[in-house]
Parts: sequence; C-alpha cells; structure tokens
Amino acid sequence: MTSILPLKLSNIWFRSREGIPLIKELSLELDAGTRTIIIGPNGAGKSLLLRLCHGLLRPTEGHIKWQNNTIAQHAQAMVFQRPVMLRRSARANIDYALSLHNVAKAERADIIEEVLQRTGMTRQADAPARVLSFGEQQRLAIARAWALKPQILFLDEPTASLDPSASHQIEELIQAIFDQGTKIVMTTHDLGQARRLADEVLFLHRGRLLEQAPAETFFETPHNDLAQAFVKGELLWWKRGEGPRRDPKHAR
Ligand SMILES: Nc1ncnc2c1ncn2[C@@H]1O[C@H](COP(=O)(O)OP(=O)(O)OP(=O)(O)O)[C@@H](O)[C@H]1O
Ligand SMILES: [Mg+2]
Repeated sequence: MTSILPLKLSNIWFRSREGIPLIKELSLELDAGTRTIIIGPNGAGKSLLLRLCHGLLRPTEGHIKWQNNTIAQHAQAMVFQRPVMLRRSARANIDYALSLHNVAKAERADIIEEVLQRTGMTRQADAPARVLSFGEQQRLAIARAWALKPQILFLDEPTASLDPSASHQIEELIQAIFDQGTKIVMTTHDLGQARRLADEVLFLHRGRLLEQAPAETFFETPHNDLAQAFVKGELLWWKRGEGPRRDPKHAR
C-alpha cells in the first residue's frame, strides 16, 4: 500500500477565534515505524496538535502535508480521551466506522470478530456501547480504530482515567497495533508510560515544540531546560517566575 508517511508540518500556527496563538511556529516530521509520545504540561497544546495532524482542525498558517494526500483521510484513525460512542451495540459501532471507510459489508464481520477478540471485547459485543464501563469503552474505541488498519493512529491520553490494570491492557493493545505496522502518535501525562512506550518524544510547552528527541536522549539528557524540569517533575511556571510562588533558583 502507498504510504502516507512521513507527515510534514511546516511552520504551523493555530489561533483561537479571538486571535490568541495556541500553536506557534511549529515544524515537525512524523515518520513511519516509530512510537512518538507527546508530553508537556496542561494547556501546552498537545490535544490541539493531534487534532491538527488528524485534520479535525486547520492551521491558521503553515502547511500540513501527507505523503499521499488522496488516501490520507482513510489511512489514519484517532482515539480520544473520552470515547465517543454511538447509541448502538459495541459491534455496530465498529461496523459503522468500517462502513464510513468504505469497507464492503461482506468483509466487515470477520474484521469485527477479530478486533473484538484481540481487545477482549467479544463478551460485550452486543451490549449497547454506552452502558459499557469506561475502560471497556476505551478498549472498544481502540478496537474500532484497529479495525480500520490505519497507517497512523493518534491517541489522546487514552489511559487518563483508567485504573492501572486497564491502563496496562491499553498499553498492550497499542503495542500490538504498532507491531502490526501502524505508526503511533500519542499524548500522555504518565511519564512512566512515556518511558515504556516511546521511541521518540515531543515536548510541547505553551504551544511551542521545544524538543523532539529519541526517547533515550530525551529522558537521560533533555537539551531543553524546561523539558528537564518537566521530567524531574518540577512545575514549569516557577521557571518563568510566574504564579504565586517565586523561587530564585528557578526564576528566569
Ligand atoms: N477552540 C479553542 N479556542 C480557544 N482556545 C482553545 C481552543 N482549544 C484549545 N484551546 C486552548 O488552547 C490551549 C491548549 O489546549 P490543549 O487542549 O491542546 O492542551 P493540552 O496540552 O492537551 O492540555 P491537557 O494536558 O490539559 O490535555 C489551552 O489553553 C486551551 O484552553
Ligand atoms: Mg489534552
């Protein structure tokens, strides 16, 4: 199949309706074959960046280019922090996604059974998706994305509200999807999870991409001082001398 990767972002700006810059001067290349983890404090622009890449938002300035634009829309999928489910069964939710991607009806049943099985959702297949537990809904969201066999999968904090065991299951699923050849681009607040999953880390702060580095380099010797502080768990507003607390050691 023709690859839609790398995805290239050139000098992207995204402004709110009021004109406030939320993503600033961001250039980036996302290559096939790696797991890219996006980290950064609340409000840094991580979710916006994923939405821009996935095409849910348009940049105010700059360009976002897929390698093969004509098939890009059908070769990518996204999983949100809060799963969005239709008012129908788990199985029908996957079926609907496949129909939107023009997968023939005759082929859908097998694909659906396979992803239900792989995500451990077979037992809940005929339950209304909206009565499933939060963790089950998230697994279903992953099953639905997996069914599309995307070349790239965006995940926005897919484990944010899950208990450790459910998070672990999701991590295993993400790994399995990656092992089948899907590029992973994911945000997380869990630095342990970032260490477990990342091949590459992007560090975002106040709408700017401050660092893009291989995971090992990033976690051992981040070049950017704000990234260093973040990895150590220090609050970043100290670094700017903002907020109620001013620490002379950290102020700049
Ligand atoms: N449509 C919008 N209009 C105006 N401001 C917005 C819009 N969407 C997001 N923002 C603002 O942009 C900033 C970045 O938001 P975003 O959701 O991308 O942050 P994030 O890094 O994902 O944060 P979190 O870690 O809390 O999920 C925030 O300050 C947010 O309030
Ligand atoms: Mg977010």
